[in-house]
Formats: sequence, C-alpha cells, structure tokens
Amino acid sequence: MDRTTLFHFFTAFLFLYNFPTCLSRTPPNITTDQSALLALKSSIAFPPDHILVNNWTATTPTSVCDWVGVTCGKLHRRVAALDLPNMGLIGTTPPHLGNLSFLVHLDIRNNSFYGDLPKELANIRRLKYINIYLNNFSGQIPQWFGAFPKLVHLNVDNNSFSGSIPQDFGNLQSLKVLKMEFNQFTGSIPPTIFNISSLEVLAFTGNSLSGNLPAHMCNYLPNLKGLYLSANELEGHFPPGLQECSKLQSLSLSINQFTGRIPSEIGNLTMLKGLNLGDNSLEGKIFLKFSHL
Ligand SMILES: *[C@@H]1O[C@H](CO)[C@@H](O)[C@H](O)[C@H]1NC(C)=O
Ligand SMILES: *[C@@H]1O[C@H](CO)[C@@H](O)[C@H](O)[C@H]1NC(C)=O
Ligand SMILES: *[C@@H]1O[C@H](CO)[C@@H](O)[C@H](O)[C@H]1NC(C)=O
Ligand SMILES: *[C@@H]1O[C@H](CO)[C@@H](O)[C@H](O)[C@H]1NC(C)=O
Ligand SMILES: *[C@@H]1O[C@H](CO)[C@@H](O)[C@H](O)[C@H]1NC(C)=O
Ligand SMILES: *[C@@H]1O[C@H](CO)[C@@H](O)[C@H](O)[C@H]1NC(C)=O
Ligand SMILES: *[C@@H]1O[C@H](CO)[C@@H](O)[C@H](O)[C@H]1NC(C)=O
Ligand SMILES: *[C@@H]1O[C@H](CO)[C@@H](O)[C@H](O)[C@H]1NC(C)=O
Repeated sequence: MDRTTLFHFFTAFLFLYNFPTCLSRTPPNITTDQSALLALKSSIAFPPDHILVNNWTATTPTSVCDWVGVTCGKLHRRVAALDLPNMGLIGTTPPHLGNLSFLVHLDIRNNSFYGDLPKELANIRRLKYINIYLNNFSGQIPQWFGAFPKLVHLNVDNNSFSGSIPQDFGNLQSLKVLKMEFNQFTGSIPPTIFNISSLEVLAFTGNSLSGNLPAHMCNYLPNLKGLYLSANELEGHFPPGLQECSKLQSLSLSINQFTGRIPSEIGNLTMLKGLNLGDNSLEGKIFLKFSHL
C-alpha cells in the first residue's frame, strides 16, 4: 500500500467511524424512546385513575422498559414492542412515535385514537406487526405504508379511513395478513396486491371497492387461506384458476355485483370450510367434491 492509498484508506475509516455522528450530534438512545412515549402520553386524554397515568412516569432507577405495555430488546435495550390494546385510550398519535427506531411490534387495537397516522412512522424500518383495529383513525391511508420492508401483519379494520388503497402496498413482499375491513375505501384494489405470494389472509369486507378481480390471481397466491371481499361494489366474472389457491379455507365474496357462472373449480378447493357467495348476480350450481361445507 503506498502512502496515498493509505491516506485514502485512513480518511475513509475516519469517515465511517464517525458516520453516525455526522448525521446527528447524539445518536438516539433509550432517552429518545422515553421522550417519544411521554409525547404519546401527553396526547392522550385519560379516563380517571387510568393505569398509565402513574405508571408511565420518568423516575430513576426504573426505565421505560419497565412501563406497562412496553417491551425492550434484550441486546439493544431500546423499545421493541408497544402493546396497548383494549385500554380505553382517547387521543392522537404524535410524530415522535417515529423516533422509536427499534420498534418491531405496535398494537394499539380497540382504543379511541383518531386523526391521521403520523408520516414519521415510515422511519421505523424494523416494523413487522401493526394492529390499529377498532379505533377512529381517518383520512387517506398513507402511501408510505408500502415502505416497511419487513411488515408481516397489518390490521386497520374498523377505522374511518377513506380514499384509495395505495399502489405501493405491492412492495410489502413479506406480508402475510392484510386486513382493511369496515372503512370507507373506494377505487379498485391495486393488482399488485394480488401478487404478494406470502399472503395468507386478504380482507377488505365492508368498503366501497369497485372493479374486477385480476385474471389468474390465484397463480400468484399459493398460500392464501382466507379471502374476504364481501360487501363492496366488485364486478365482473370470478377469475379462472381458483383451484390454484389450494390452501383456501374461507372465501367470502357476497354482496357485490359479480356476474357469470359460479366456477366449478370451487368444488376442487378441498380445504374450504366457509363459502359465502350470496347477493351477487351469479348463475349455476356448485358441485362439491367433499361434503364438508
Ligand atoms: C442519550 O442521549 C442523550 C442526548 O440525547 C444524552 O444526554 C444521554 O446521556 C444519553 N443517555 C444514555 C443512557 O446514553
Ligand atoms: C409499572 O408497571 C409495571 C408492571 O406492572 C411495574 O413493574 C412497574 O414497577 C410500574 N412502574 C411504576 C413507575 O409504577
Ligand atoms: C375493547 O376494550 C374494552 C375495554 O376498554 C372491552 O370492554 C371491550 O370488550 C373490547 N372490545 C373488543 C371488541 O375487544
Ligand atoms: C423525535 O421526533 C420529533 C418529531 O418528529 C422531533 O421533534 C424530535 O426532536 C425527535 N428527537 C428526539 C430525540 O426526541
Ligand atoms: C370518528 O371520526 C369521525 C370524523 O373523522 C366522526 O364523525 C365520528 O363521530 C367518530 N366516531 C367515533 C365513534 O368517535
Ligand atoms: C366493525 O365494523 C362493522 C361494520 O360497521 C360492525 O358490524 C362490527 O360490529 C365492528 N366491530 C366491532 C368489534 O365493533
Ligand atoms: C404479477 O406477477 C406476474 C409474474 O411475476 C407478472 O407477470 C405480472 O405482471 C404481475 N402483475 C402485477 C400487477 O404486478
Ligand atoms: C376438479 O376435480 C374434478 C373431479 O375430481 C377433476 O375431474 C378436475 O380435473 C379438477 N379440476 C381442476 C381444475 O383441478
């Protein structure tokens, strides 16, 4: 190694060594997580004597890792999971939540959170599980929901979201469960969603979604166990090749405007336990190979 190479090597080393501090003067730590959780606390209107009121207080020697509903990672000691279901919490979700950069699991189902989800949540690249079922979030479902590379489970059922389902959801290539039932979604289901081959549950019941189902959708959904699309405004014929969704256990397509013949392949879905096709304009009969329905 000559001197110039050595010099470049050395400056590169120095740069990489200092890289985190180049971006921000102090790297985030558990104090950052504490500020984020206190910001959440201050945006909640608590019922009297709520358990969080006294428990979520910054006192040494206890850390946020000991707070109710908070789990920290064993190695990094940053907040990894936030579990606050069924707690009667009324409030909004502050942008500070986006600073919980080690968060993997977010469960705030069955509370009364309202307003928009902060776009800063998109900074949490480690998120695998998001459950905000049964709250009153509203507005458009943000485009950045497609930006979680590791997301496995997303449940936004029973909120007041409107607008269309973002095209970028097709980027969620680890997704197994996508539940967006009982909101006010309109427009068609982006065809890219039917290409997420990891999907096991796809549920859009009770919206105002329109359009057709993509032809041969089952070719790309080999793991699908539940398809719930009832109570929308979907139309057209059922896609051919339904037998390719060979693991399907529940198929709910009732209360739509589907037309044409009921495809005989439904009779070849040997795992099927629940079938709901009523309230469409379908014709024909289903011949079931097995009498387990
Ligand atoms: C965390 O960072 C803050 C600055 O944001 C600093 O004052 C504090 O000492 C750090 N705490 C730990 C435990 O490293
Ligand atoms: C909060 O609750 C947890 C779990 O019940 C408990 O271990 C912890 O000591 C409590 N912290 C405070 C400050 O009350
Ligand atoms: C929601 O949480 C409340 C307690 O806040 C509980 O009484 C109720 O049963 C829960 N509902 C559901 C559907 O889980
Ligand atoms: C956390 O996020 C908020 C809002 O996004 C920001 O104002 C704040 O400075 C961030 N950093 C810390 C260390 O709390
Ligand atoms: C939910 O929010 C909407 C407005 O976004 C409001 O009209 C409605 O009353 C709220 N519902 C509940 C149960 O809080
Ligand atoms: C979710 O919304 C649907 C449609 O409004 C309603 O029938 C159902 O009871 C709701 N679920 C809960 C747990 O409230
Ligand atoms: C779905 O995947 C298939 C095969 O990889 C590809 O031919 C098709 O264009 C994709 N469709 C969409 C809507 O991305
Ligand atoms: C469906 O089952 C019938 C009867 O067992 C069989 O003849 C037919 O080839 C199967 N069709 C498909 C598409 O798998």
